[in-house]
Amino acid sequence: MSDQPSLFDEPENDSSPSTDADASALTDEVQQLHQALNQANYQYYVLDDPQLPDAEYDRLFHRLKDIETQYPDFLTPDSPTQRVGAQALSHFEQVTHDVPMLSLDNAFDAQDMRDFNRRIRDRVKQSGDVRYACEPKLDGIAVSLLYENGLLVRAATRGDGAVGENITQNIRTVPSIPLKLLGKDYPGILEVRGEVYMPKKGFNAFNEKALARDEKLFVNPRNAAAGSLRQLDPKITAARPLEFCCYSLGRAEGGSLPSTHSEILNQFSKWGFKINPEMSVVQGIDGCLEYYNQLAEKRNDLAYEIDGIVFKVDDINLQQQLGFVSRAPRWAIAHKFPAQEEMTLLKDVEFQVGRTGAITPVARLEPVFVGGVTVSNATLHNMDEIARLGVKVGDTVVIRRAGDVIPQIVNVVEAKRPANAKDIVFPSTCPVCDSHIERIEGEAVSRCSGGLVCAAQRKEAIKHFASRKAMDIDGLGDKLVEQLVDEHLIESFLDLYSLSLDSLLKLERMGEKSAKNLLAAIEASKQTTLAKFLYALGIREVGVATAQNLVSHFLDLKVLVKADLDALLEVDDVGPIVAKHLLSFFAEPHNQKIIDGLLNIGITWPVIEKKDTSELPLAGQTFVVTGTLASMGRDQAKDYLQRLGAKVAGSVSAKTHGLVAGEKAGSKLKKAQDLDVPVLDEGAFLQMLAEHGIQHAS
Ligand code: IVH
Repeated sequence: MSDQPSLFDEPENDSSPSTDADASALTDEVQQLHQALNQANYQYYVLDDPQLPDAEYDRLFHRLKDIETQYPDFLTPDSPTQRVGAQALSHFEQVTHDVPMLSLDNAFDAQDMRDFNRRIRDRVKQSGDVRYACEPKLDGIAVSLLYENGLLVRAATRGDGAVGENITQNIRTVPSIPLKLLGKDYPGILEVRGEVYMPKKGFNAFNEKALARDEKLFVNPRNAAAGSLRQLDPKITAARPLEFCCYSLGRAEGGSLPSTHSEILNQFSKWGFKINPEMSVVQGIDGCLEYYNQLAEKRNDLAYEIDGIVFKVDDINLQQQLGFVSRAPRWAIAHKFPAQEEMTLLKDVEFQVGRTGAITPVARLEPVFVGGVTVSNATLHNMDEIARLGVKVGDTVVIRRAGDVIPQIVNVVEAKRPANAKDIVFPSTCPVCDSHIERIEGEAVSRCSGGLVCAAQRKEAIKHFASRKAMDIDGLGDKLVEQLVDEHLIESFLDLYSLSLDSLLKLERMGEKSAKNLLAAIEASKQTTLAKFLYALGIREVGVATAQNLVSHFLDLKVLVKADLDALLEVDDVGPIVAKHLLSFFAEPHNQKIIDGLLNIGITWPVIEKKDTSELPLAGQTFVVTGTLASMGRDQAKDYLQRLGAKVAGSVSAKTHGLVAGEKAGSKLKKAQDLDVPVLDEGAFLQMLAEHGIQHAS
């Protein structure tokens, strides 16, 4: 924020609100900014349908912040700027729920559901089908949100159902929760209940980062949501990707609500809450069972974890007639999905070696049916994770398999540990090639130092070499590579090019036709591009994009292999780490031999001519492309820029001449704005292309 915030964008208004007229104009503006920002939040986080470009959102947000800084009277707790920023607490206050937060009975199969439906029909003496509202049972934690005159005044956890904890500060940081209700016709007092949860994507990203930093992992999304909300410092909560979805009314005073559960939720949605888009109303038990089966099919494709379906009698009058038993309503039930967590025996731990030598402990389990499949292996990530779990061979462990994620061990049932349980010992040398194992300070992974001496690394290197984005050798799948290496037909990818029909035919299950096709595919792979070849070599940290940048910069392999550190650092997106990997790869005599060998057997690519770009319209300029463009992919955009003579870089700096920003542009856009780098939205970009004679047909 600048020291002297300009109050208005238009110069004629550039004064402080010294008169009533100014103050009233400002009040109007603040109100409009609140409304526009709340609406944009609602569209983005609740409806998942962003309407306002990020840049415009940022502009409005900063404008509001500026006004609030200069005139603190305009700063109200419901301001969209006030989500984060509260001081850390020393403890959470207790909150007594006006209406207890109940739990749900469970149904584990169709029979349980039929019994539930029969009990209801008997009680309310209904002859026809009962109408049920159906919603996924989100796997997060229940919270209560209290609004007074439309403003969020208190948020609490469920606790024991009667007393929970006041987590208002943390809840304010969850962007899908309105700080102020939308519309006008809401009850003066409204308590809304629902689930705070961490979607799968955010959960996986969080755990990946934690793993890389050698920090504790969350065992499941519920635990992630609970852990994130129980932070005394709201800044920590704010950084966690949490969402909220409402599923019931707590209480309402001073206003009227519809007479069915489903209509109430729809009304909540209009007041700014997220409701589950899968919600549906069905007739009778058959409708419930059909809904359950449909959602079970969809379960893995949902963006969040669910552990069952909640069925609720839709008619509120009927709900009231039915009432409660102990701590659960008679009018609702949770039909659970098969468990995603099961216990089994850890029989052994083996150590797998990946392409870059990373050694991963893999748990061999007594096969167990979990989350719909039989699981016999689970990842243990690294040695620190083993230490954290305190797991030993022979232990009974809890396995979790969620969606398509690799099954994990979430904890150890220590009470079941046998006397002869064995410690897990990390090997001191590579289990495949016996080379020594290195662990770099600050990294969680240990690596085999054997490089291509190591059969495991060789197999992975060959698989990578043959893959589609590399040399694209059709028909050379993972199993075949393993067979070829195990049978000593090849040692490195260079040997692929001396395979003969005779030797291939000696392999088990290899017919003449497949063998001939494979040889033809290997031969065809000799015609490639320099970028694919470079990527195929499997140099650490050199992915498709980096390979392409290296090629665009050096044009010729001979020049690249001789490049020194300074020369490498000139390449877009190449930093000191990638440069170091390149230098050590090309310095290794073994790698030099393989490259020479590959060239000698006739691998070629079209020569890349150095074009004289100095006359092109964007010569000497550097652009960055970010976000999603509606009319073309980012690669296409980069290609156009390069055709006009521009360089395309991966990150924005003060030297960047322009940022092409599509929808959902994030940190790069912010950085460009901070550095005053010109930003082109898609329209401006297309116009610039057109001005330079490129007509893009989308
Ligand atoms: S209704 C009286 N609906 O499940 C009805 N609960 O076992 C109370 N949950 O603590 C809850 N999704 O945290 C309801 N669509 C949904 C739900 C849901 C998840 C959780 C909630 C509650 C627990 C009950």
